[in-house]
Amino acid sequence: MRIGIPAETRPGETRVAATPETVKKLAAKHQVVVQSGAGMPASVTDDAYAAAGAQIVGAAEAFAADVVLKVRAPNADERGMMKAGTVVIGMLNPFDSENIAAMAAAGLQAFALEAVPRITRAQSMDVLSSQANIAGYKAVMMAANTYQRFMPMLMTAAGTVKAARVLIMGVGVAGLQAIATAKRLGAVIEASDVRPPVKEQVESLGAKFIDVPFLTEEEKEIAKGVGGYARPMPADWMRRQAELVHERAKQADVIITTALIPGRPAPTLISEETVKAMKPGSVIVDLAVSQGGNCPLSELGKTVVKHGVYIVGEPDLATLVAADASALYARNVLDFLKLIIDKEDQLVIDREDEIIKATLVCAGGEVLRK
Ligand code: NAI
Repeated sequence: MRIGIPAETRPGETRVAATPETVKKLAAKHQVVVQSGAGMPASVTDDAYAAAGAQIVGAAEAFAADVVLKVRAPNADERGMMKAGTVVIGMLNPFDSENIAAMAAAGLQAFALEAVPRITRAQSMDVLSSQANIAGYKAVMMAANTYQRFMPMLMTAAGTVKAARVLIMGVGVAGLQAIATAKRLGAVIEASDVRPPVKEQVESLGAKFIDVPFLTEEEKEIAKGVGGYARPMPADWMRRQAELVHERAKQADVIITTALIPGRPAPTLISEETVKAMKPGSVIVDLAVSQGGNCPLSELGKTVVKHGVYIVGEPDLATLVAADASALYARNVLDFLKLIIDKEDQLVIDREDEIIKATLVCAGGEVLRK
């Protein structure tokens, strides 16, 4: 089988879907073709791919493979370079119905890895987790870089400096990593989430959980989420959360927001009123900015100063850690490939498999996920 790794073309995308480590494993059994320069934004040279057993080719050849490994969904030009029946694997955005329809029309068999279910067997393929982990780390780095004071408490001959107070809103994979990273820098941390099991995780990392008690059975039920993901909380709970957050935000030096609800705009957690009440020079890093943001004042791709507060709206923070983000993503992809390649090294797509069912967005000209 021929496996192609094209260069990513989406602006700002620095990752690559295979690394010399994964290429070496694939090249033992398959023909691997890598587009010249595909790894450069992640500091992987053509020579490193060639040494791992890949053939370095042009874009057309990389897309002409039987299986194409991507980071982002192919655009119209890229779709045009693939023959009908080509298997495409990547973060194809399962909620982008227009693009899925276009891939279906091109006859592609496309797998959107973001839709991998949260079951034990699929953990090693979970791209949202591998990339969110990196984003959580980088969010703290960006905050520390923007913040005009120290993160740790310091006692110096010139006097004592107080530790920064960091508030983390949304404690999934990114939020947990943000807590762990900020902790290592010596900050004092508080965190909030809707899902009850998070409290224990937050406390085990040495942070304080901001409890918003549930007043009704309905609130309790919704807060459990579905499939490991949050659901939109009732308005009254959101109002009570906002009140508490407003008070905590006044004390905070850094706020990192990561709250997402799959397929929906991100919930508003830090209102303009709250930003106004924050200390001048404090920093908000809004990881949900691509989904509309957890703060209405954040601007996609920009760091802005509003009411004296720095608001970082950089999307896709994992792309700023391109080498490790690619390394982890490439391993996710390799593990996924094992699911569709049998012992005879042939492509076998078992539509009854739970992971395949969830990720296969189109095949045979048909859209399989609405
Ligand atoms: P996510 O990226 O979808 O959302 C981030 C966080 O925001 C979540 O914790 C969510 O509960 C929270 N959130 C949503 N609305 C909120 C609101 N109004 N206020 C405060 N917080 C809000 O979540 P992510 O990172 O994908 O992880 C969700 C859970 O799934 C985690 O507990 C994680 O450990 C678990 N997980 C399980 C896996 C498995 O079993 N294989 C794999 C990966 C994650």
